[in-house]
Amino acid sequence: MDNLCGFLGIVGTGTMGQELALNVSGRGCKVIVFDQNQKQRQNLKDLGLNSVSSLANLVAALPRPRVVLIMVPAGSAVDSVVEELFTLLQDGDAVVDGGNSYFKDTQRRAAKAHDLSIYYYGAGISGGKEGARTGPAVMLGGPEEGLPLVMPILSGLAAVREKRLGFLYCGNDGVGHFVKMVHNAVEYAIMQLQAEIYLIMRDLELMKAEEIAASFATLNSGRLRSSLMSMNVAILKYQDDRQEGLLLDVVLDRAKQSGTGRWAANSALELGVPAPTLLAAVDARSLSMQGELRKSLHLQYSNISNPKIAKPNLDISDFEATLFAGIICAFAEGFSLLEAGSQRYDWTSHFSFSAICDVWNSGSILEADIMNIIGPVWGRVKKGASLLEDDQLAVTTMKTLPHARKTVTAAISAGIPIPALSASLAYFDGIRKANSGANLIQAQRDCFGAHTYQRTDREGQFHSQWQES
Ligand code: 6PG
Repeated sequence: MDNLCGFLGIVGTGTMGQELALNVSGRGCKVIVFDQNQKQRQNLKDLGLNSVSSLANLVAALPRPRVVLIMVPAGSAVDSVVEELFTLLQDGDAVVDGGNSYFKDTQRRAAKAHDLSIYYYGAGISGGKEGARTGPAVMLGGPEEGLPLVMPILSGLAAVREKRLGFLYCGNDGVGHFVKMVHNAVEYAIMQLQAEIYLIMRDLELMKAEEIAASFATLNSGRLRSSLMSMNVAILKYQDDRQEGLLLDVVLDRAKQSGTGRWAANSALELGVPAPTLLAAVDARSLSMQGELRKSLHLQYSNISNPKIAKPNLDISDFEATLFAGIICAFAEGFSLLEAGSQRYDWTSHFSFSAICDVWNSGSILEADIMNIIGPVWGRVKKGASLLEDDQLAVTTMKTLPHARKTVTAAISAGIPIPALSASLAYFDGIRKANSGANLIQAQRDCFGAHTYQRTDREGQFHSQWQES
């Protein structure tokens, strides 16, 4: 572990804040922590941390220039901490918001900080509880001038994987949180794709729990090895301690969300970036939350019989290739969103997709061997290209398609909902279709709204009287 010299104030010591405090203090940094909760303040003292009882005390205990890391839930809680901090800090001090804040909130707070000559940073921190304690991935955005103050601490607490540092300075204002938002959207997508493969194994192939666990272990031993996949392997074997059977079988099938996935979906819509797999994953979580409706409609439609189809006999190579193709599409969509965001918000100067791959592959939830396939693409394709434009990746992806079609077709025919798998395939088919059906939409828009249309055979805007009046 690096030995960090210096002082850090941490506000908010929920799971992530507390573990980061222990991480940083374990590396020799002098940490002063403040939590609103009195019981937690005592707990922090018991853990050997210097816990103070107010923000004012925290600021007073830090030598100038100060660095304060905020680890409170995104939204109004950040605003109230920031507002109070802005009254206590002085010019030249730095504030780092390490939560999953919405990047536009970070831009707004950074602008206010700038007026006060305070350095304001948004840091996307990934890796969960374990990562926070031992070394997370950190995606930082904020003013370049204050970097000498914050970088030693933030890069010092980050993960190191195979000599890659889990720290990346991404550029100005909200970019760190934007990169983390897209990271989370890809995270949602991969989780959903994996859950759909699990569902197919369980409800279509009628595989036993041990077979599913063994299949996921096999998936985790090849190019789909990843942190998330390792978690699946553990989850799929974990026995319930209250009764016989898997704990997973009694876990409620409702997946909540805290905001990042939805914001990414909104950003994709706002920036006009097609991201069907990412959006499907967000939607699937919303649908999962409608548990009562699902139960009642299940009964109402229980007499539906799906057309008789030959047993698909999907095997591990189908699952592997289908998942691989889906994950590649999720990353392709995510990187297109990053590209559009970097253009729209003027973050291009520090933007490097291969550096983003490296940081995502160093301590983040997305840590995966597939990053070793995706990362090098950015050294081969032209700037701003789609991930799918790489010749080498195209060869690999094409081999997966027959499997993906087989799996998706089998699941849809059997009425198994697979929104992300089917969206990823539709994305792939759509993005490589030279002649889409949108000519009809252009014509319809002109027909009912005189919006005009373009032609393939000559320049200009045209309008036709499509219907007899
Ligand atoms: C990470 C995770 C982490 C967290 C999010 C996910 O990279 O470590 O993304 O930040 O799990 O809160 O959010 P949801 O609650 O929306 O799933």
